[in-house]
Amino acid sequence: MSEHEEHTSFIRTPQQLIVVVVLAFVVPVIAIVLLVQVIVNRPSADPAAMQPEAVAARIQPVGRVEFGAAGAASQGPRTGEAIVKQMCSACHQTGAAGAHKIGDKAAWGKVAKAGLEGMLKNAIQGKGAMPPRGGGADLSDLELARAIVTMANQSGANLKEPAAPGK
Ligand code: HEC
Repeated sequence: MSEHEEHTSFIRTPQQLIVVVVLAFVVPVIAIVLLVQVIVNRPSADPAAMQPEAVAARIQPVGRVEFGAAGAASQGPRTGEAIVKQMCSACHQTGAAGAHKIGDKAAWGKVAKAGLEGMLKNAIQGKGAMPPRGGGADLSDLELARAIVTMANQSGANLKEPAAPGK
């Protein structure tokens, strides 16, 4: 019996069988992977890859500016202070791009004449160099109003912070 096997196959032990089965599977897979790599790495494989749009899309996340805060949506309305610190102070702290500087009573006095409604409307739509909602696209009207009240009150106004609905 065992002599007969010796003549028909070089696989004599279960270990050898396993090795052969594994190799029979792994070797073609490696060959395919290497082949695919050769094809994919050829620069001519995808001429669209070097299009300006494709290049811009690849490098874009590095240069993107995020005004929103992580996980902001789930926590209910944020306070004016938090929003101002996170989003508005980027421009309004320094007066960048002609933004009304926090603490500048003259500048805020002028816009505050329009009342919270007026300022809120301009802030929602965006004005001059300010993007809509001050760049905080996920801000609710209430949050935006709170941020405006916070900044205006730090600049000499005396506005009442709008309450959250249902409180
Ligand atoms: C990218 C810079 C920038 C950011 C960020 C920004 N602002 Fe402004 N904001 C401006 C500029 C510039 C103006 C002046 C616009 C003008 O009058 O031309 C302005 C004006 C305003 C005004 C006065 C609008 C009026 O009635 O004339 C309010 C209110 C205001 N911002 C609120 C906010 C709030 C609230 C935030 C944060 C959620 C914010 N801004 C974030 C740049 C910014």
